[in-house]
Amino acid sequence: MSVAAKTAADMAAHWDGRAHLFEAAASHHRHRADWRQVLAAATGLGPLDVVDLGCGTGACAILLAGLGHRVTGIDGSAAMLAEARRAAARDGLQIDFRHSDMDRCALPDACTDLVSLRNVLWTLAHPAAALQLALRLLRPGGRVLLSDGLWRRSPDARLGALGPHLPHACGVTRAEARRWLAEAGFGDVAEWQNRFAEHPYDGMYDEPATPIAFFVLTARVGA
Ligand SMILES: C[S@@+](CC[C@H](N)C(=O)[O-])C[C@H]1O[C@@H](n2cnc3c(N)ncnc32)[C@H](O)[C@@H]1O
Repeated sequence: MSVAAKTAADMAAHWDGRAHLFEAAASHHRHRADWRQVLAAATGLGPLDVVDLGCGTGACAILLAGLGHRVTGIDGSAAMLAEARRAAARDGLQIDFRHSDMDRCALPDACTDLVSLRNVLWTLAHPAAALQLALRLLRPGGRVLLSDGLWRRSPDARLGALGPHLPHACGVTRAEARRWLAEAGFGDVAEWQNRFAEHPYDGMYDEPATPIAFFVLTARVGA
C-alpha cells in the first residue's frame, strides 16, 4: 500500500505555502539541545546511514548529521527543502536532500541503518504504510525512529480539502504508533520521550492548556 498516493501532491503544496512560517514557529529551535541529547541517546554510537522521511526544513536531519550520522533527507515540498538546504549550509553540514514524494523515492532496498519520521506520520493518508517503506529501506537489524504527537482536537482548517483524507490529521498517539510498529513486525521498542529536560512543545494548538502528548520511539527490524 502507498503512504499517500492521493494526497502527496496537495500535501506538498500545503507545505510549500508554509515553509517560510514553519522554521520561525517551530519549537525545535528552543529545545534544540534537548532534542540533540535525546536523538544521541536514541540513535547511539554512529556513524549510521540515516534516511529522514519527510525531513521538511531539516531540523531533525541536521541534528542527526551533527551527531556524525550520514543523512539523506526526503521531502515532497521544494520550499521546505530550500529552507533545509540553507540551514544545513549555515551549520556546515553535508546532507543529501532529495525532492521526492516518499512513495516514489528511488532509494534502493536495504540501503540504511536508521529511518526517521519526525512529525510526519500525522500528515500521511496511510501512516502504517510508512513502516513498510521503512522496512524496505532498512538493512537487517536496522531501526526506525518515530516521533509525533496529538497536536489538536480538530483538524487544522488550513488543510482545507486535504483534512478529510487524513485519518490522523489531529495527530498520532503513542499507542497507535506502537500498534503500527508491532503490525509491521518491528520489535525491541524503546521509548525516549521521558528523556527531555523540559516538555519540547507548547500546549495543543486549539486547546493550549493541554500539553501535547508526544512520543519518541525506536524499534528494530525483526527483533
Ligand atoms: C510537519 S513537517 C515535519 C518536518 C520535519 N520532519 C521536522 O521534524 O521538522 C511534515 C513534512 O512531511 C513532508 N511530507 C508529508 N507527506 C509526504 C510524502 N508523502 N512524501 C514526502 N514528504 C512528505 C511535508 O512536505 C513536510 O515537510
